[in-house]
This record gives sequence, C-alpha cells and structure tokens, in this order.
Amino acid sequence: MNPLFHKSIYQTRRDKLMNSVSSGFALFLANDDASMNYPSNTFNYRQDSTFLYFFGLSIPNLAAIIDFDHKKTILFGDDFEIDDIIWMGDQPKVAELASQVGITEVLSLSALPDFIQQNKGRKLHYTPAYRGEKKITLAELTEIPVSKQKENASVELIKAIVAFREIKSEEEIAEIEKACAIGYDMFTTAMKMCKPGIKESDLAGLVEGIALSKGNGVSFPVILSQHGETLHNHNHHLTLEEGKLLLIDMGAENKMNYCSDNTRAIPVSGKFSPKQAEIYQIVLDANMAGISACKPGIPYREIHKLAVTVITQGLQKLGLMKGDIEKSVELGAHALFMPHGLGHQMGLDVHDMEDLGENYVGYGDSFERSSIFGWAYLRMAKTLQPGHVMTVEPGIYFIPHLIDIWKNENKFSEFINYDKVEEYRTFGGIRIEDDVLITETGHQVLGIPIPKTIVELESIIGIAK
Ligand code: GLY
Ligand code: MN
Ligand code: MN
Repeated sequence: MNPLFHKSIYQTRRDKLMNSVSSGFALFLANDDASMNYPSNTFNYRQDSTFLYFFGLSIPNLAAIIDFDHKKTILFGDDFEIDDIIWMGDQPKVAELASQVGITEVLSLSALPDFIQQNKGRKLHYTPAYRGEKKITLAELTEIPVSKQKENASVELIKAIVAFREIKSEEEIAEIEKACAIGYDMFTTAMKMCKPGIKESDLAGLVEGIALSKGNGVSFPVILSQHGETLHNHNHHLTLEEGKLLLIDMGAENKMNYCSDNTRAIPVSGKFSPKQAEIYQIVLDANMAGISACKPGIPYREIHKLAVTVITQGLQKLGLMKGDIEKSVELGAHALFMPHGLGHQMGLDVHDMEDLGENYVGYGDSFERSSIFGWAYLRMAKTLQPGHVMTVEPGIYFIPHLIDIWKNENKFSEFINYDKVEEYRTFGGIRIEDDVLITETGHQVLGIPIPKTIVELESIIGIAK
C-alpha cells in the first residue's frame, strides 16, 4: 500500500467539500491501469490527483461518491479474488482500505451504475476526464456522450476543489520538500556527471533512475537537451559538446505523489563563455527578482511582469532590445525571447490541477487571460495567498523559427535589434526554475538549494571521476 496521511486529514477534506457544494452528489473515478502495448502490460501506475487528495488510495478499480445532501461518502471497489492474488499478490480488503482513509460505507463496483440510476433526478457533479478509458466509463455511467463531457463538468465542484487543493497544508509542504530533495539529488548528480563526450541519454537515464529509486519516478518526462530553445524538448539523442549549454528541466514525485519541478542550464565544458554568462546572469536576475517579489496579496501576473521587465532591461544592455521598456513589455516584444509564462502552481500534479482547467487554477473569476502572444501562455495570473506553491521559471531562448517569422514581418522593430539577434541564432536557451511556497509574511524557496549562481555551477560541473 502507498503511504497515507492520517485518516482524519482525508475526512476533513471531504467534510469541507461536503459543505462547499450546494446539492446533489459527486462522482470520482480512480485511474485504471494504462496499457502500453497489450492490455496486461501496463505503465507505472499513477492515481488521479483529486482522487488521491480526497481518498488517498493509490490503486485502480475504485470509485467514490460524495453525497452533498446526505453528507456521506461511499467507496466502490471489489476485494481481490484468488486469480488476482495469484498474479498480483494479496491486498487488504476494500473495507480495510476504506477504514484507513476514514470511510465506513463500501459497496461493490457493480453497485455504482445502480446508485447513479437510482439518483437520476439529482444533480451529478464530475470533473473532466483526461484518459480515454475513463471518458468511456464516465459516458456509460452518466449517459453524457464523450463529446459533451467537458462542457457538462461541474464548475461548482471544480471551483471548490481548486480552492482547497491550491492551499497546501503543512503536511503537504513536508511531502513537496521530500520530492524536492529527490530533485536535488537528480540535479547534482547530472551536474557532476556532465562532460563533453557523454550522451544526453546517459544523464537522462541516470536521473530517471534516481527518481524511481527514491520516490515514485519523475513528475513529468525529463527535459535534458542542448537544444534548450525548444521549451519542452524530450529528445536525448545528442552527445554533449564542448561549448554548448545543457538545459535540464526535471522533477520527482515522492512516494505520496507530491512533485518537484526545477530547471538549470549548465555549460557542458564546466565554464560559461562570456556570452553565455551574460545571458545566464539576466535570467538569474529575473529568477531572483521574481522570487523576492512573491508574497500574499500580489497578483502573480505582476510578478511575471517584473521578471519580463528585468529580462527586457538586460537584453537592452546587450543591445538585443531597445525602446520604451514599459511599452515593450505591455505589447509583448519580450516574447521573442521568453514566450512562456513565469510559472504555475505545483502540488500533486507538476502543473497542479491542470486537468480541472487552467483558467480555474490560474485565473479564477477576477482575472482574464490576455490574448497577446507571450502573455497568453501565462498559466497563473491570480493573487497569491499563503499556502500557494508556485514555480518561478524565467528564461531566454533564441528560437530560430520564431526569429525568422518575426524578422520577416519586421515585428516590433521598434523594440528588437534583429541584426544583433542574428549573432545569437545558435545560442540555445536558458531557463532557471525554483519552487516557492507563499507564506503569511512572504515566501520560502522549497528544497535544498540546487547550485544556481555561475560560481556555484562552475564548481560542480563535471567533478565526478
Ligand atoms: N516541467 C515543465 C515546466 O517547467 O513547467
Ligand atoms: Mn520545469
Ligand atoms: Mn515548471
């Protein structure tokens, strides 16, 4: 069995939800095993995060109902039979599992369709499914076709879940810290092992092994590439070359499925070139300015604005940008170099609750997503509150395709020196990412500090024998 919090924590979470949704009942489906290449050959199991949050159990073939009118929870599941035990070993009875998370009412999985039929006149709440098989199960249970499932998901339930899950409790922070500690090992190992001549895949395999040996594996597929200008580059096929930068964006899940997510960009040779150091320092300044500004009451959109302002100022000093800084930032000229947002919430998912809808998580009712390129990719605009866990991840990238398109259009020529940009065409990309808890008085960077300054990095890269 997976480790669990004390059952009172799950009970309290469900009680709070029961008192937040007006009427009806909510259906929660556990994730099933997902097949790789034939039905019984499955990926490493990962439970749905909302299911984990309210019911704790990290096993498939379960469902649950929270009944808002009758204030009760029912867990649906079947005990292992001898055939299951022969192949997969014994497992506690569902009633025992339920009692570990404070649930007393248990029914067989076959009773779930009957329950839904018998309660047909009542409001059924569910969250959007993101796996194909679950969409089919949800369609069969609710009689809502897959094509209409998303629009019929319960906004009331989604908003209530986001409101609870986005505020991390002390025990959740302790779990995130454990995930960060695994991330620290992954980063420092990759940095020590980094040297010209070895393959990106050598390092990627090594760090993935650490994540699996110490926790539940990586929190998303490892990004480890000398082509850091491709934001989510999952190719690891190149050999490390003297003079190149290696961007590593990775994180771990700890045994309770809480995540970490950090990024560092390091010189393969162990020493930044002057040109690399200049760009690196701008990104580091933006990262530090963003982190320093994190505190309750400030909209994250303002922190994004601060970070891209620092980047614009730095790029102006190098002659890559020019013109009125405020106007340049407002119109999104910086997005040639940093097209993405400054960060996102993190918790049981690395992009926390993205399955529930990014606008509910990052914008809420008080903020609207911009349609301007660059600004539109900002995942989080909302006002920060104590208990939020945010990533702060500015970057500077030289994306040849994007440069060509903008240059051909003469886009923002008032703000961008395209001749100078050409000198950086093959530079690659730099991103620096840390995980930050918003506290009552300000913020706390989570995890053991991963080497980040130029001096710190140059003293660890390649030191493994
Ligand atoms: N792991 C991708 C990101 O940093 O958001
Ligand atoms: Mn990341
Ligand atoms: Mn991130």
